[in-house]
Amino acid sequence: MNTHHIKQTINNNIATLCFDMENEKVNKLSQEVLREFQSHLEAIKDNREIKLLLITSAKAHIFIAGADINEIKTMSDEHDIYNVVISVDAIFNELEQLAFPSIAIIDGACMGGGLELALACTYRIATNESKTKLAFPEVKLGIFPGFGGTQRLPKLIGLVKSLELILTGKTVDAKKAFRLGLVDKYFSQGHLDFESNSFISDVLKNRVRKRKKTFSALEYFSFTREIIFKKAKENLVKKVHPDFKGPYKALELIRDSFGSKLEDGVEKEARAFANLAITPESKNLIDLFFISEQIKKDFKHVEFDEKIQNTAIIGNGVMGKGIIWLFSKYAHEVRIKLRKIEQVQDILNACNKLYAFFVKTRKMTRKEVAFKLNKISYTDKFNGFSLIDFAIEAIVENSEQKINTYKNLEENVNSSAIIASNTSSISINSLSQTLKHKERFLGVHFFNPVNKMPLVEVIPSTYTSQESIAKTFEFLRRCGKMPILVGDCAGFLVNRVLLPYINEAGFILEKGNTIVTIDDVLKEFGMPMGAFELADIVGIDVGYKVAVILEESYGKRMEVSPVLKMVHNDMKLLGQKNKKGFYIHNNKGQMVVNLDIAKNLTQNSSISTKKEIVNRAIFIMINEASRCLEEGIIKQVSHLDFAMIAGTGFPAFRGGLLKYADDMGIDYIVDKLESYSELFGERFTPSDLLYKLKQNNKTFYTGESLWNH
Ligand code: NAI
Repeated sequence: MNTHHIKQTINNNIATLCFDMENEKVNKLSQEVLREFQSHLEAIKDNREIKLLLITSAKAHIFIAGADINEIKTMSDEHDIYNVVISVDAIFNELEQLAFPSIAIIDGACMGGGLELALACTYRIATNESKTKLAFPEVKLGIFPGFGGTQRLPKLIGLVKSLELILTGKTVDAKKAFRLGLVDKYFSQGHLDFESNSFISDVLKNRVRKRKKTFSALEYFSFTREIIFKKAKENLVKKVHPDFKGPYKALELIRDSFGSKLEDGVEKEARAFANLAITPESKNLIDLFFISEQIKKDFKHVEFDEKIQNTAIIGNGVMGKGIIWLFSKYAHEVRIKLRKIEQVQDILNACNKLYAFFVKTRKMTRKEVAFKLNKISYTDKFNGFSLIDFAIEAIVENSEQKINTYKNLEENVNSSAIIASNTSSISINSLSQTLKHKERFLGVHFFNPVNKMPLVEVIPSTYTSQESIAKTFEFLRRCGKMPILVGDCAGFLVNRVLLPYINEAGFILEKGNTIVTIDDVLKEFGMPMGAFELADIVGIDVGYKVAVILEESYGKRMEVSPVLKMVHNDMKLLGQKNKKGFYIHNNKGQMVVNLDIAKNLTQNSSISTKKEIVNRAIFIMINEASRCLEEGIIKQVSHLDFAMIAGTGFPAFRGGLLKYADDMGIDYIVDKLESYSELFGERFTPSDLLYKLKQNNKTFYTGESLWNH
């Protein structure tokens, strides 16, 4: 037998299969690994000497990271996928049917297929280490657990808890997994040998008592079970777009197969899985997974001396407070320069509010929060800045004040410190002009709210060094963010592409449709919020300010819509922050449309159809995005798509803004833009790149040579 990935040992009647995938950092269940696993099972199953099987991993922090997604990605035939899944089911069945017990010893990530393998073992024990995580993340890839997970999990931990894990892709640590009944024992990693040996000895002596199952009483009767399924469906409808099919199909399958014999349920699961895995939505989500993995490697190859540890923040408004909280969680020191020292309480309140979630969900203790808050120190001068190695400015959007701040910073920070600006619109090149060390200055554009938005645009000036970029990327990743490199221009990438979406909704409204219709149609398309809802949440003042800057920079095609001007200049509405914008907001987060807006409009009943609303709002973004590629604001189309998904919530199941354009067809997009240009104005004039793609019969994903010369 060719044994590359799994090491088999037999000692004292105990067989161990230790996963250690060759030439890989993590263990994945590829076809090859699974075949090897099966041959090991075949080799030991009739060995009467063996009393117990242990399944372990030799990789640090990883048990088994899941199935090999690359294999799923490349398969497009439903029947082939079904056959592969059925063959894996047979292997896991064999594991489950062994004449002796088996224990999965989980010390690290145990995800997807890895967890399904562990579920086929008699017992699971796990270390309570931060890297030990258990989850079924498949729904995030547009699929669901296909190797028996949807069948074995409900039998083990009950329906309600299984639905929560399978439909959300939520990750649990060992302690939570124990509470759920998913693992039989957990212990600190330092006691791994001792505790696993003691568990093994108990199993061999038949002393492990079956854990009492704590299923919901509703699960036992078919009519009450229906209530569980109905509630789960209602929750999904509220939170998940219907084209994000994974969780919906998983729910259908679990409902259909609940109570079936395992082999029948597993067969149904394989059929439904194969059907789902070939959908374009699933393929798009899998592609995006690989794109994000690729983005995570950006700048990793660039070497630098010291990592960023000590940070400083100037500006304590909406963004400043979010950044202070973030750095207090991940950096060593957080020094704040305030204008008035009395502002300290306001900052502490904001940080405490953000940490409260972690305490409530038991992810942090109060002690840990106190430790984090203790890292924050304050000054109303610039003293104590000499140890700072990363300082970010988030003061008002005013060039003069910002430049003055950098001058003060340069005089006070460590000689190798990076200085960053969180500006959302001012050119990074222009801000860097008076700096002595331009190579250590860059834009670091966080999105609002900082605690929730993963994307950060990193904008170098023409002088910024590769080392400064790499250091910043490394630090942002440590803060749990997804940094992406973007060129210097007004609005940078995401705001520049998104603003036309909000603006276009204003143009549509002006002529005749209602606020609710426009927002509903955009949400049906998959946007997390309608354009007006988004304007209210961002703040009409903030949105208007950005819109004006973009109009000044890009001219007529970014002309601010009369509706946006009216609500800002005449009606003085701010949006959610003062409860009145396109909607009236209450304290519970509910909203009703603000009827005053329609009263102030002289709509001429030129109603756009649903399709036209979507086309106008989305195609105008596609047009601007294509200009960003042309101008080199972003190099790779996949990165642009990723940024729009992470930064604006563009529907991931559509694969991204420009993947959607490709799927619609470049010819169709160009034709529509041309006709909208005649009907609604020159802002729709197709970009040169769109014409080039059309002429060369290329798509965004195949035409890279047309903009990256
Ligand atoms: P804000 O108006 O809420 O806060 C500005 C803060 O800066 C105030 O606390 C003010 O006291 C302080 N400040 C003003 N001048 C100062 C100075 N010279 N020295 C020290 N502190 C000073 O503004 P916000 O929204 O937090 O924006 C800050 C920066 O972040 C701006 O450049 C903005 O363009 C950018 N940004 C804003 C986003 C948003 O959604 N609000 C998103 C991304 C970036």
